[in-house]
Amino acid sequence: MLWKTVAEAREGVRTAQRAGQRVGLVPTMGALHEGHASLMRAARRDCGFVVVTLFVNPAQFAPGEDFNRYPRTLERDLDLMAAEGVSAAFVPDAAEMYPRGAATTVHVSGLTDGLCGPLRPGHFDGVATIVAKLFNALPADAAYFGEKDYQQLQVVRRLVRDLNMPIDIIGCPTVREPDGLALSSRNAYLSPTDRAQAACLSAALFEAQRRISEGLRDPAAIISGIRKCILAAGPAVIQYVEIVDPQTLRPLNIIEGEGRIILAVLIGTCRLIDNVAATAPGA
Ligand code: PAF
Repeated sequence: MLWKTVAEAREGVRTAQRAGQRVGLVPTMGALHEGHASLMRAARRDCGFVVVTLFVNPAQFAPGEDFNRYPRTLERDLDLMAAEGVSAAFVPDAAEMYPRGAATTVHVSGLTDGLCGPLRPGHFDGVATIVAKLFNALPADAAYFGEKDYQQLQVVRRLVRDLNMPIDIIGCPTVREPDGLALSSRNAYLSPTDRAQAACLSAALFEAQRRISEGLRDPAAIISGIRKCILAAGPAVIQYVEIVDPQTLRPLNIIEGEGRIILAVLIGTCRLIDNVAATAPGA
């Protein structure tokens, strides 16, 4: 099933629910890859009816970002969804999602103050707004998001909690290439040399994870190790490397319990983000 309007999508979701099916939603911007496929599989595991939304949301691209060149591969995306046994695709156009005169924005404060927030002005407002709109348009029972976009996942969890939205948010593990690079639609921007270099991000994160599991507790020492490891692999602009509380996303002074190591790095023209859990021994 291919739905283009909010009215069709809402009716489709309600029909499935009236038939007793749990409905799972996988929100995407298309250019689907194995990471998205893993979200679809998780949704299928839990839900009798799975809807994938495909919408390149202009509101979440900061000025000067890659909205125009963002990969658009609709035919391939529909094939991948069919292969994964998805029940329906929601593919609205911009006028359907943002009718003339739309004047409401959702802002999640605090969680968006650091990390990618200041570097991508308006990005998380755009994400929170479209996600709230999708959840209202498609009143699903659960929605699936990748941990790769860790800050986004926490923003969505908070949005749902704060606005009493009746939907379960399921975070799913990052899917990686054999050399460790986290899958992302934007990896398509990497030249072959940059692609080879990009494996340094996950290598640095896994090494940091190992040092923490062995008892290193000083975030500054670990962050400096990560930076060295990344810069040793070739030219890169490190936007940030931080070790934060997994819920509040505030930087940790010492790693005692659960933490999250999270980074954003430019390699060539491609902006890459990645993160891993950092758990102190015995936590
Ligand atoms: O993660 C994404 O692809 C997007 O940010 C999302 C959640 C589909 C909102 O446009």
